[in-house]
Amino acid sequence: MTTPTAGVSTTALVIASARATESERADRLFRDPLAAGFLAAATGEGPVPALETVRHPMEHYFAIRTRLFDDYLLRACARGCGQVVVLGAGLDTRAFRLPWPAGVRLFELDLPHVFGFKEPVVAAAGAVPACERVTVPADLGGDWAAALRAAGLRPDLPTAWLIEGVLCYLDSAQAERVLAEATRLSAPGSWIAGEHVSRRVFDDPVARPMLDALAAVDAAWRSGVDDVVPWLGGYGWRAETVDLTDPAVHHGRLSELDRERIGDGPPRGWIFRAAR
Ligand SMILES: C[S@@+](CC[C@H](N)C(=O)[O-])C[C@H]1O[C@@H](n2cnc3c(N)ncnc32)[C@H](O)[C@@H]1O
Repeated sequence: MTTPTAGVSTTALVIASARATESERADRLFRDPLAAGFLAAATGEGPVPALETVRHPMEHYFAIRTRLFDDYLLRACARGCGQVVVLGAGLDTRAFRLPWPAGVRLFELDLPHVFGFKEPVVAAAGAVPACERVTVPADLGGDWAAALRAAGLRPDLPTAWLIEGVLCYLDSAQAERVLAEATRLSAPGSWIAGEHVSRRVFDDPVARPMLDALAAVDAAWRSGVDDVVPWLGGYGWRAETVDLTDPAVHHGRLSELDRERIGDGPPRGWIFRAAR
């Protein structure tokens, strides 16, 4: 088993750690029973330096984001998407834990060593997907679109895409290519949701400790955009950003988010949803 405790895949463990914590709360926004198993499998092999510095200040945000994208994907499927593609899926377990409509195919795409770690943990837990789950080991910096098509994605059918906490780890050229390829593979009726960061974040002293902690484990953020809505619009997506102060989004966690995420001034990043 290759443990993702260094490099960009460490960040998947950070998210799994936040999901494991959330799953223990009485007022949890979701339950991810596999998250603790990933953590145990990884930390059994030694400390994970980025976990605390990055996870702790962001854990409510990660929980809210997770629930938001759970709801988004189920809604997109209810509106006619029979395919889901999770780009940079990491230790995402939505294939196992969400009540998918019959017939949904869900593609998880990430670097090969991530699946080298993930699949044995999933198998040991005896987890059974609630949809048709297809793993696609591929690099988003390479010809991942060909790998996805070879794995069975049908570009003539509507797709619900998710790119959660991933774009900032790509350089600008890679991020542009990812969006261009996803767009090319998207039939009318497709949706895309995810998160991207503002270019301004790289000069923001509040973000600096987290950026430094990520860089120290070779998982530096590499790019952002000026404004995500026109960026998506340039590829033909009708996009909107999610308002974290909306009670339907924060589920009573606004006070925690206030400290972590909603500062004064321009946004450090955006959660977006877009239709085609
Ligand atoms: C912060 S994690 C998010 C994981 C998952 N989306 C979630 O929210 O649980 C970032 C993920 O992006 C993946 N990633 C980063 N660069 C990648 C690349 N070039 N190709 C494929 N995956 C990549 C990492 O391996 C990691 O799993």
